[in-house]
Amino acid sequence: MNTLTELSNMADEALAKVGAAVTREELEAVRVEYLGRKGVLTGVLRGMGQLSAEERPLVGQRGNEVRAQLETAFNERLAAVAAAAEMQQLEAERLDVTLPGRAPRIGRQHPLTRVLDEVKSIFMGLGFDVLEGPEVETFYYNFGSLNYPDDHPAMDDQDSFYLNDNVLLRTHTTSGQVRIFEQRKPPVRCIYAGRVHRREQVTLRHSHTFHQVDGILLDEGVTFADLKGTLDAFFKEMFGKQTGMRFRADYFPFTEPSAEFAITCFECHGAGCRLCSNTGWIELGGSGMIHPNILRNIGIDPERYTGWAFGFGVDRVAMRRYGVGDIRLWVENDMRFLAGV
Ligand code: DAH
Repeated sequence: MNTLTELSNMADEALAKVGAAVTREELEAVRVEYLGRKGVLTGVLRGMGQLSAEERPLVGQRGNEVRAQLETAFNERLAAVAAAAEMQQLEAERLDVTLPGRAPRIGRQHPLTRVLDEVKSIFMGLGFDVLEGPEVETFYYNFGSLNYPDDHPAMDDQDSFYLNDNVLLRTHTTSGQVRIFEQRKPPVRCIYAGRVHRREQVTLRHSHTFHQVDGILLDEGVTFADLKGTLDAFFKEMFGKQTGMRFRADYFPFTEPSAEFAITCFECHGAGCRLCSNTGWIELGGSGMIHPNILRNIGIDPERYTGWAFGFGVDRVAMRRYGVGDIRLWVENDMRFLAGV
């Protein structure tokens, strides 16, 4: 077999392999096999020295033709293989833009937070500062500083969650009163709001965890009439102009005189219905003139300064506002409930 035939056979064989290659790697292997420095074609051309003088230029020319032919075939095949690979990748990464999206879950404020924010913003509008303090409180701030008689039943283990002899979960936000008096000198005008805890039998209307707002005004010449005016303005703003208020004598160790207060029923506006047990009134909290003993103990002269304080529960107000009949739902954090309120 002469060298020209050998070249032609080799070209056919190489072209067939180029045509059969499906990946870049396979193709490159074929290129190296035939056109590489140690490739088949190079080998044939290197053997040209042994050829006769007539044969040599013919083989040289044919060799160059074969090289050019193989290179062209190789490059064309490479382009085809690359295009196929790209198509395959696009197919694999294909996005179906018509699929429905995943809706993100939108967060929102807890309904109690919304009611508390409303309470705070109304009092801020009346010139009150909004303060907060610890839920884990000392006996002193929760009871001791507030003029409780030694044997007052509220201080029993039965009613409070004690962490040790001296530390408990605050049972009311009145725990902030003496903290505030330690930090601020009269005139003092602020509210103190947050979560409180009592060892209560848990029912639809009672929970071990609930929320209160206390308010304080301390200045020269402050009277009970200012308390009535302020609370009346607040409740009219919160529940509407038609809202009426009632005060009744009561007892709290930290106020003298003391009064519980009620507002006209949100439902029947005073006529009497199931919500208000036919009384026309909803009892909300306690209030009174700050006891002179408290002021004296903290170094404020009760002859010069007088003040009032009040405290009420927020949970029942929120229950009413959102039509929720079970107080426990506020602190259970059940998303199915909260998402619907
Ligand atoms: N701390 C009382 C309670 O939880 C409510 C209260 C009554 C707060 C009179 C006051 C007040 O600030 O002056 O029942």
